[in-house]
Amino acid sequence: MQEKQIVTANNGVEIVLRPAVSEDAREIIDTVSSVSPERSYVLMEKYGKDEETERKYITDMDRQHNLLLVAVAEGVIVGSLAALQENEGQDPKTTHILNVGLHLTKAYRGLGIGSKMLQYAIDWARERGFRKLEANIFTVNSRSLKLFSNAGFVEEGTRRKQYRIGREFIDEVIVAKFLD
Ligand SMILES: CC(C)(COP(=O)(O)OP(=O)(O)OC[C@H]1O[C@@H](n2cnc3c(N)ncnc32)[C@H](O)[C@@H]1OP(=O)(O)O)[C@@H](O)C(=O)NCCC(=O)NCCS
Repeated sequence: MQEKQIVTANNGVEIVLRPAVSEDAREIIDTVSSVSPERSYVLMEKYGKDEETERKYITDMDRQHNLLLVAVAEGVIVGSLAALQENEGQDPKTTHILNVGLHLTKAYRGLGIGSKMLQYAIDWARERGFRKLEANIFTVNSRSLKLFSNAGFVEEGTRRKQYRIGREFIDEVIVAKFLD
């Protein structure tokens, strides 16, 4: 597969999908942070890394076993997807698993971009011999559930009241796709 791919969003805008480079650190942080206030949809309340740490993380990451993908529209990063080897690749029993999470800025949702990013990650994983992709999704996040189910992910189980956000308890579904 090509590392850099150009896809068209449902509104006709061209989107470049490519692995992140260290210069993207600031924009990736901004993209993920823009989603954080939507507390009932994503696990990440606050992006834990500052720009320099993120820069170093991107530079040092093991790109054979981990993918950090960005979606760029008109020169600006509008989404990022992380597909990370389970247990940071430290446990030989789980090195066949990749855990996937993605975020798009509000204006770029509902345009099919998430589906294209996920397809990129699936192709990438298959090419590298991974056998299982998994994702953790809040049950209230119907768009994300639809996105993963469209791509062939099936439910593995639900962890009930797994997160407490304010007064609300949120269930989490684990979904997986197997690659042969
Ligand atoms: C979840 C997210 C990544 C999906 O990406 P996206 O580009 O918006 O999704 P797509 O446009 O590819 O659409 C996904 C599917 O969901 C459907 N969908 C859209 N809104 C929906 C809703 N409210 N409920 C159910 N399905 C919905 C779409 O119709 C599409 O299905 P279809 O192709 O069969 O019509 C994106 O919306 C996002 O970043 N959300 C905030 C962060 C987040 O929730 N991340 C996921 C954490 S696991």
